[in-house]
Amino acid sequence: MDSNDISFLDNVLDIVKAERTDDVPLIRFKHPKELEEILDLDISKGVDDVQLDKCVKQILEYSVKTHKPTFKNQLYGGTDPYGLSGAWIAEAFNTSQYTFEVAPVFTLIEIKILKHVLYLFGIPDGDGIFSPGGSISMFYGLVAARYKAFPEVKRKGIRNLPELVIFTSEDSHYSIQKAAHWLGFGTDNVMRIKTNECGQILINELEIAIQKEQAKGKHPLFINATAGTTVLGAIDDLNAIADVCQKYKIWLHVDACWGGSLILSETYRQKLSGVERADSMSWNPHKMAGAPLQCSIFLVREKNLLHEANSASAQYLFQQDKFYDVNYDTGDKSVQCGRKIDAFKLWMMWKARGDSGLDQLANQTMAVAELCLEIIKNREGFKLVNERLQCPNVCFWYIPKFMRGKNVDEKWWDLVHKITPKIKELLTLSSRLMIAYTPLRHYKNFFRLAFTFHPIANEQQIVEMLNDIEECGEMVTPNML
Ligand SMILES: Cc1ncc(COP(=O)(O)O)c(C=O)c1O
Repeated sequence: MDSNDISFLDNVLDIVKAERTDDVPLIRFKHPKELEEILDLDISKGVDDVQLDKCVKQILEYSVKTHKPTFKNQLYGGTDPYGLSGAWIAEAFNTSQYTFEVAPVFTLIEIKILKHVLYLFGIPDGDGIFSPGGSISMFYGLVAARYKAFPEVKRKGIRNLPELVIFTSEDSHYSIQKAAHWLGFGTDNVMRIKTNECGQILINELEIAIQKEQAKGKHPLFINATAGTTVLGAIDDLNAIADVCQKYKIWLHVDACWGGSLILSETYRQKLSGVERADSMSWNPHKMAGAPLQCSIFLVREKNLLHEANSASAQYLFQQDKFYDVNYDTGDKSVQCGRKIDAFKLWMMWKARGDSGLDQLANQTMAVAELCLEIIKNREGFKLVNERLQCPNVCFWYIPKFMRGKNVDEKWWDLVHKITPKIKELLTLSSRLMIAYTPLRHYKNFFRLAFTFHPIANEQQIVEMLNDIEECGEMVTPNML
């Protein structure tokens, strides 16, 4: 096939469509060695299109169908079909987002989307950039905060800086640990502050920790508030944290990677009250809102900071004597050189649905989660970790019949801890449901159902999921553990 012939894509579209029919199972799970035996992954000899077609079919046959309502393994689900179309176009056009000359329209699209998103989050005069994920957005936040406090860091490095400390909740995402390591803060300088039962950071503990670090001569630089923790979906009290940041002159970053999608809902956006006081924040439309992976936005209040902190002014790419307005060469704000046109996927979704279409999807998602919570609350054998819904996360244990009515002591909980992953295994192997489980703080392994915009689950599907959990839960016997 020559490089102008894209006819194989027609085959691919047919294969993908066939893999999306209802009768296709969620997963045909095989262990790695078994899968290696089944698949022909060797690349040393080329194959013709007919054989390649077969290979693709086989690969998809054993891949997880993340668009199904029974895929509840992660904080993302199916993609928005308009976003998916945008993603295909983006790949077909193979555009990099650094300069206006190679990405004229996509540059304007990124600017447009960022403006709209900044306005929605209440930071209308700010700036932003699409990044390759929430973890990288966390890096952006830390770099911006450190550059703002110590601009000389860009040239001189970190050697002469005071010891900088970062504060975050014990339930926050682990990317802050990685960023602390990579950026030279050191993970010992990440203070993980205790949370309340709902998973929100304890403000008094936060203040005590700040004072303690100050007393040691350290420099509190950055507080990471979370709007939608990974497991419980907790939204920190952003206004209270903003007050603390103001009092101690500390940078406020809000990790809204998960919960940020609630900004799309007129009804639920007040849950994010205080986000407009952030110095920086991140939102992953690729999670709840269903933009195709990856689609993550980093926003910053101060207009030129991203450019000042990150620019390297490469002469071969960002020449200042170009024939057009070089202010539209936005790539030097990024830590990347080549950068995918992720904004376009989101733009496609937004253009098709408008604010009101996304508002509706956000509301439906929350309504489904509320319904699920209510059903679980009243269903025998199920026990909620927390009854308060913040984001569309519903966390619970299934207690098999043989465990019910027994003395609930440490041994009992240890058994629950082992039962949960066993149920997950049975659900996965039978392709009924892929669901997340985790321990958290003192809580033993429990399930997390996190609802997303695509597909919107209905009551029957929720009941079926719970029936499946119950059925697999009742298959578990003590000698299996
Ligand atoms: C709250 C939160 N922040 C950040 C991230 C990291 O996002 P990404 O997977 O895009 O790096 C996650 C991922 O689950 C998350 O839950």
